[in-house]
Amino acid sequence: MGVAGQHASIKLAVLIWLVLQNSVHTLLIRYSRARDVEHMFYSSVAVFFTEIIKAVICLYMVMTEELGFVGLLRGIKTQILDQPGDTLKVCIPAMLYIVQNNLFYIAASHLEAATFMIVSQLKIFATALFSVVMLNRQLARAQWLSLAVLFIGVSLVQLQTGKSSKEVVDDTQKPFYGFMAACIGCTISGFAGVFFEKILKGSAPVSIWMRNVQMGVFAIPASFVGTMIQDGASIAENGFLYGFDPVVWLTVFWYGVGGLSVAVCIKYADNIAKNFATSLAIILATMGSVYVFGFVPNMAFTFGAALVIFSIFLYSSSAVVLSLFYRQKVVS
Ligand code: C5P
Repeated sequence: MGVAGQHASIKLAVLIWLVLQNSVHTLLIRYSRARDVEHMFYSSVAVFFTEIIKAVICLYMVMTEELGFVGLLRGIKTQILDQPGDTLKVCIPAMLYIVQNNLFYIAASHLEAATFMIVSQLKIFATALFSVVMLNRQLARAQWLSLAVLFIGVSLVQLQTGKSSKEVVDDTQKPFYGFMAACIGCTISGFAGVFFEKILKGSAPVSIWMRNVQMGVFAIPASFVGTMIQDGASIAENGFLYGFDPVVWLTVFWYGVGGLSVAVCIKYADNIAKNFATSLAIILATMGSVYVFGFVPNMAFTFGAALVIFSIFLYSSSAVVLSLFYRQKVVS
């Protein structure tokens, strides 16, 4: 197999992995927040441990790349300590991702799994807008149309207020609050993603693992401060690991694996391919939430979800047409 063939195989494998990872991720995060547990864990602490897990995995990967512990230390010195400006640049997406991750836990606590998943697709809308503004990317008319369809679809999904039978619903759940958290989280996701892409494509070739170690330098202390600000008083009373059980640890680990999967996907595939993967994940996870949570979608939900999925395919296919058109123009 040639290099191009090998690259295509890796890309396909990464995309299939992202579909599976994303579907399980959404169900898991909702399951961990909607169980009938007396002692609910602090989501800010979960975000902190996710950052630790990602840093450990990335340090291990850098060590493998740099052929040992001494190479790892050398890499940290030359690519992090000796490049304070470059390291500082990743501070912005690192901080934003911490806020985003906290907001998605809040959203998952107040929205049903399927609604949470569909509303999260507003990320694509935000990513497109920031790509146009910050990366001067061109969008075809069909792509703007698909963004409008996406918006209508997400709004329709919001009309479903009924709760699924197996999710634990208490009076403290506020769907509008969850909806707002998801919307702000999606906006941050779009901005942070495009900002990270700009760093990846516009500066010195630093490996994706080392970039994530750089992010961890800011993300770990920032997420620790986040635990103190958000849940400091309760942590002082109940302890840092309050409510942590195997399901929570699995969710935290899976969140970390998800973050790194996004990073690898940006490297081997692209944003359009990532959107395809997420849209397939919606279908799988919705089917999953019917079984796991006994979720019963109504007409508005079904129609809205169909519009969302249609818009993602419309957006992605017109992007492919656009890229073929530009390629042809370059060739001719
Ligand atoms: O789907 P979206 O792009 O919003 O995914 C963002 C998630 O990926 C966040 O949890 C973020 O912490 C993680 N991420 C990461 N490393 C990167 C880029 C994103 O851990 N280089």
